[in-house]
Amino acid sequence: MMNPNRHLMTLDEFTVYQTRQFSHATGEMSTLLRDIGLACKFINKQVNKAGLVDILGAHGAVNVQGEEQMKLDVFANDVLINVLQHSSECAGIASEENDDFLAFDDDHSVNSKYVVMFDPLDGSSNIDVNASIGTIFCIYKRVSPLGKPCTQEDFLQKGRNIMAAGYVIYGSSTMLVYASRLGVNGFTLEPSIGEFCLSHRDMKCPEKGKIYSINQGNTAKYDDNLKRFLDYCMSEDKANSLPWSHRYIGSMVADLHRTLIKGGLFMYPADCKNANGKLRLLYECNPMSYIIEMAGGIGSTGQEAILDVQPTELHQRVPIFIGSKNQVEKAIEIIRG
Ligand code: AHG
Ligand code: MN
Ligand code: MN
Repeated sequence: MMNPNRHLMTLDEFTVYQTRQFSHATGEMSTLLRDIGLACKFINKQVNKAGLVDILGAHGAVNVQGEEQMKLDVFANDVLINVLQHSSECAGIASEENDDFLAFDDDHSVNSKYVVMFDPLDGSSNIDVNASIGTIFCIYKRVSPLGKPCTQEDFLQKGRNIMAAGYVIYGSSTMLVYASRLGVNGFTLEPSIGEFCLSHRDMKCPEKGKIYSINQGNTAKYDDNLKRFLDYCMSEDKANSLPWSHRYIGSMVADLHRTLIKGGLFMYPADCKNANGKLRLLYECNPMSYIIEMAGGIGSTGQEAILDVQPTELHQRVPIFIGSKNQVEKAIEIIRG
């Protein structure tokens, strides 16, 4: 049936519309995105009642004594795996929550062309305080031959090979931001019809930002160049809009969502205890760098573009400096000494 309210465009309608613009494109990406969107609607429902979980129990039933509560990140992981296993386009997944990748070996999946990587629940320490959390994902075309289960090399591809990436933020409203080489678009969940509807068309990360975002409590562990850069962020220089404001939520999705909309610089650098920082290349840094680059910003390790890092293991970590072009460039200039 035709949508009577034509100014509402759903995520599914939008990706089908985008596909039609390109004669060589197929609908596979739309299908995958619809499946990921469906999983995130399940997760959203569970996130919304997170505060009630002790009363209702993990499955919505009245809590029986001794019943073990399912943790939200385990729930989110299970839902994504379940939905993608039944998707017609997904050959396998790798998740922050699983030690190894999963190759789906049924007759249909071995012929599927895509693999998906995700951080099912990002910012989990914020659940208890009702602050925004999210799901991060990216999609690659597999490089192993069709007809057999996918292999590790499908997952250890550079971020440059990403076909599409996105995140869902479970915030004051729930939103899905989706990036492909055609641009970045945001869809807000309209609860009355249960659909993600286009609300932020062609998103661009402002070239100049005035916000820096870092866990500044770690300063004692940072090297001298990074400390110099933090001094720069706090210095008085009106001509360069300094000092910049400091904002740090502690959920990468929430901090990056603000950075995408308002501009700014988000950092999770290396320190003397963690040579590669904290954040994961495959599930956090690559998808976010792809989204920010497609929106005109930069994602860097400080030495090279995140998307150019050759992954060597699934759970590899990398330092990250990401956001508005001017601010990331300034950070790189100072931290290189
Ligand atoms: P996750 O919840 O998936 O483990 O990710 C947590 C991450 C990320 O969301 C955030 O940017 C970072 O941890 C915050 O770390 P600190 O508490 O060390 O600042
Ligand atoms: Mn995370
Ligand atoms: Mn996580």
